[in-house]
Amino acid sequence: MHRILVVNSSTRQGRFSDGIATWAVQRLKERGDFIVDLLDLRDHPLPFFDDTPPVYHPREYADEGVARLARQIDAADGYVFLVAEYNHGYTAVLKNALDHTFVEWRRKPVAFIGWGNVGGARAIEQLREVAVEFEMAPLRHAVHVLPDVMRAARERGGQADSALLAPLEPRLDLLADDLAWWTEALATARSAEVR
Ligand SMILES: Cc1cc2nc3c(=O)[nH]c(=O)nc-3n(C[C@H](O)[C@H](O)[C@H](O)COP(=O)(O)O)c2cc1C
Repeated sequence: MHRILVVNSSTRQGRFSDGIATWAVQRLKERGDFIVDLLDLRDHPLPFFDDTPPVYHPREYADEGVARLARQIDAADGYVFLVAEYNHGYTAVLKNALDHTFVEWRRKPVAFIGWGNVGGARAIEQLREVAVEFEMAPLRHAVHVLPDVMRAARERGGQADSALLAPLEPRLDLLADDLAWWTEALATARSAEVR
């Protein structure tokens, strides 16, 4: 079975992303065709990147914290980024994590779940461009959580739960079906390459 890494890209106190992470991981696991892990960037506090570009020394990391993060990324066959939108971009902590690594993401698909005034669409579009630089395959089908859901979650204490997110399940299923296709196709192609 292929391994999917769900990346929680918000680390701030009181983050909305926790409810999204619980929902996405549970629903992806329920399919039974992926091994699903959660990568919470809170568990990987890294210094601001200030080294030589990792592309020049693939998988060689002096910092054990970066090496630990890189191993988790490397072990995955595909990714789902949970995308908070900050000032029309994605989070600085995600960009920093990306800049610390490189080849681990290569030739693997990435799908996006975003939230915010336009469902994180602006931040997701930026991430699609960045994903290409990492030679990832950014996927079309995304989940956009809009302010109606965020407002309702706030009124219930802050987190979106599976009942509030239920109308978005068909979108998540479409994302997951597409991710399954690309994960299989690219894993097959990668394994043929190393033989
Ligand atoms: C620094 C900052 C900037 C923000 N900028 C935007 C924005 O440009 N567009 C938007 O839709 N929401 C914006 N928001 C609101 C976020 O969508 C909202 O706070 C959301 O909960 C962030 O995700 P998180 O709680 O998981 O960090 C911003 C929030 C913060 C903290």
